[in-house]
Amino acid sequence: MLSRKAEDYLEAILNITEKKGYTRVKDIALALDIKPSSVVEMLKKLNDNGYVVYRKYDGVTLTQKGREIGSLVKDRHDTLRALLEILQVPEKIANKDACIMEHELETKTVEQLKNFVRFVKSAPDYPQWLQHFRTFCETGVHPCEADKQKGIGSTDKS
Ligand code: FE2
Repeated sequence: MLSRKAEDYLEAILNITEKKGYTRVKDIALALDIKPSSVVEMLKKLNDNGYVVYRKYDGVTLTQKGREIGSLVKDRHDTLRALLEILQVPEKIANKDACIMEHELETKTVEQLKNFVRFVKSAPDYPQWLQHFRTFCETGVHPCEADKQKGIGSTDKS
């Protein structure tokens, strides 16, 4: 199994390559906030283990094995970020925490979270329960419960 750090590299290289068409050391250093010299060190290791092809002046490309892992991690990241955003976590935090969670969860858990995200996003209208959840986050009271209490209140008065 790859280290969390190595997974982050493969994911970052995939993202950068998809955006720019190529990846250089400085792009990775910037994306992961790591010194270029440390990036080079890691790229050499990933090259030796067959995850990337790294040539000093040509930049870095993913091998098939590296691309498979990079795609898997990116997919996990996208699922977790989407889930956190559904849960009203601000985008920046969701993105940061998705990057932590993406390495740690069991495959089955991620599969179910992905199903959940797809379920929510495929709803034809913005789901009412999700609207209720937003209200709940703001007020601490479930809107249905609040309605019920109002209902009981008016019944008491009558
Ligand atoms: Fe990530």
